[in-house]
Amino acid sequence: EEVIRRSQKMEAVGQLAGGIAHDFNNQLNVIVGYLDFLKDYLQGDHVARPWVDKALQSTERCVHLTRRLLDFARCGSEDVERVNLNTLVVGLSELIQRTLTPEIELKLQLEESLWPVQINPSMAEDALLNLVLNARDAMTAGGRLIVETSNVALGSTNADIYPQLVPGDYVVLSISDTGMGMSEEIRQQIFTPFFTTKAVGKGTGLGLAMVYSFIQQCDGDIHVYSEPGHGTTFRLYFPRMEGTGSKRSFPEGEFVPLPDGSGTILVVDDEPDLLKLAIGYLQSLGYQTLEAGNAAQALEVLRNHAEIELLFTDVVMPGGVDGYQLAQKAVAIRPDIKILLTSGHAGKVLTTDSLVQFSTKLLLKPYTKLQLAKRIAAALR
Ligand SMILES: Nc1ncnc2c1ncn2[C@@H]1O[C@H](COP(=O)(O)OP(=O)(O)OP(=O)(O)O)[C@@H](O)[C@H]1O
Ligand SMILES: [Mg+2]
Repeated sequence: EEVIRRSQKMEAVGQLAGGIAHDFNNQLNVIVGYLDFLKDYLQGDHVARPWVDKALQSTERCVHLTRRLLDFARCGSEDVERVNLNTLVVGLSELIQRTLTPEIELKLQLEESLWPVQINPSMAEDALLNLVLNARDAMTAGGRLIVETSNVALGSTNADIYPQLVPGDYVVLSISDTGMGMSEEIRQQIFTPFFTTKAVGKGTGLGLAMVYSFIQQCDGDIHVYSEPGHGTTFRLYFPRMEGTGSKRSFPEGEFVPLPDGSGTILVVDDEPDLLKLAIGYLQSLGYQTLEAGNAAQALEVLRNHAEIELLFTDVVMPGGVDGYQLAQKAVAIRPDIKILLTSGHAGKVLTTDSLVQFSTKLLLKPYTKLQLAKRIAAALR
């Protein structure tokens, strides 16, 4: 019952975070886009170039933060990769050491030949850091922090202890402290968003809520053992990764010359600024463009322009017809039309399951001109 209540609360917060992040993402898209244009416009040695770079860097950070919010709304699970938790722990150990006070001793107990897991590594790092910070705060008078990894095979006999977990192989990451521990009453609330016992301004109460949401996304579970006055142990269970699971398909980041475009693209977005931005990008890449502000308009344009090769549409639009449905209708009218969808909300994609045929054709907002150029070129191929 407690688990259900907790997950309902998490869902509410997740939806809230997701909703805000979604609008935010759209605005960021516009900012990144116009800064990109501005950069192209200014010559390499122009005094204002570094300012634009700075602004772009800050916007990058906002993009990162928004991604975290979206992750929180359970939409970040597409960024999973094969991870060895030992490597992750060792990679963070210096940072952890610096986070701790000198009175706290750090011990790593890492299992040799640890099984791999398939998770989002930056979220795993965030989770570990959150737990470490909590442990530090619980050991104001010093103590010992142990970070441990192990392989565990859970049989069906363990089912009553681990009701959330299906029997199978798990990698366990535990973080133990010798701090003040917590009462049963507090322990029951620690995963509730905004629950904190820390002074105003010291804690947001979101740390463990994020950890909880992350571990749910991983199909894992988290266990807490605590004794007031003695210490606390958090155990995170991650399902062992089977096979090689290399499913990263789209390496981004490295510099590639922008593909030169030709052909006509119909761009659909209900936000005028984003529409203008996408049109600007596409035209500067060499494409002809047509535009529409909603699905009904888009279908109208599509019927009157046989030259349209690709439909590039936002997923979330008012008016009762979203981007997926529009894509379906477009394909019904013009079976050979190519589709590229864009959304700030990956979560919506996965739940609209009758429309999964389009889910691989999704470009996450905010996107850069390079990302758009690559995806458009790939879709047209
Ligand atoms: N290792 C621990 N030992 C004792 N109490 C803990 C420990 N970890 C968490 N808690 C309790 O759980 C509460 C919630 O933790 P959580 O990480 O969610 O929020 P916070 O640390 O208070 O704030 P934030 O992490 O957002 O800065 C803490 O305020 C504390 O009371
Ligand atoms: Mg915390």
